[in-house]
Amino acid sequence: MRKIYCIANWKMYKTAREATDYIEHLLPLIEDFKENIYLSVPYTSIAAASSFAKKTKIVIGAQNMNDAKEGAFTGEIAGLMLKEAGAYFVIIGHSERRSLFGETDEFIHKKVIRALQDDIQPILCVGETLEERNSGTMKKVLQRQISIALSNVPKSSSDKLILAYEPVWSIGTGKTATPKIIDEAHAFCREVISELFGKKGANGISIVYGGSVKVENVSEIMKGENVDGVLVGGASLDVREFAKIVHKCKK
Ligand code: 13P
Repeated sequence: MRKIYCIANWKMYKTAREATDYIEHLLPLIEDFKENIYLSVPYTSIAAASSFAKKTKIVIGAQNMNDAKEGAFTGEIAGLMLKEAGAYFVIIGHSERRSLFGETDEFIHKKVIRALQDDIQPILCVGETLEERNSGTMKKVLQRQISIALSNVPKSSSDKLILAYEPVWSIGTGKTATPKIIDEAHAFCREVISELFGKKGANGISIVYGGSVKVENVSEIMKGENVDGVLVGGASLDVREFAKIVHKCKK
């Protein structure tokens, strides 16, 4: 049985105070929920959120990190800094990082390796643009993104990875991929991972879906055999909305 994850990606929203307010409101709403609840918060909220969420089922993480251990990289942040601040995981290769900040597959690969070295769980995001889907190159794109990002990742580390399939055309657009499209893409991602880690390794890696997930569509999405959770952007910003999604994020 693979682990199930309900992950919020707040992007560039919520100050530290707003983050702790949110967690305070979320806790009573998710008391009886058994799966993993992850919140990826802005850097400045990590310390406050993680100390507030200590000894609860909420796990705090970051949305990005640099590939270097440390160095003269103005404005960047290192894995070890995130870890000390209380981050347990980090999102790597989000499509907004790829498209708005020019992150390449090779850079993303280096970040995955660094995160594992720094003992932070990487959530690797992959996904095709609408153009790529329409031109029939979706599989090629996913294959390239996954195989470069995860090359040289030791098999023994595969259990620390989470993969997120986020088709670019459905992020923040309200256009959710259909459950069939999602499950097929996840099955393909698993095939690619099994080339790297073997079938057994690949079967243990959770693959979550992201892109316009909301209360209304999460149950359908979760029905997919290869869907092991969701990565929620906009709809995670409202605590009640997110709590409802959390409750539907199960098998
Ligand atoms: P939305 O849920 O706002 O489409 O964002 C998805 C996302 O980018 C999660 O990482």
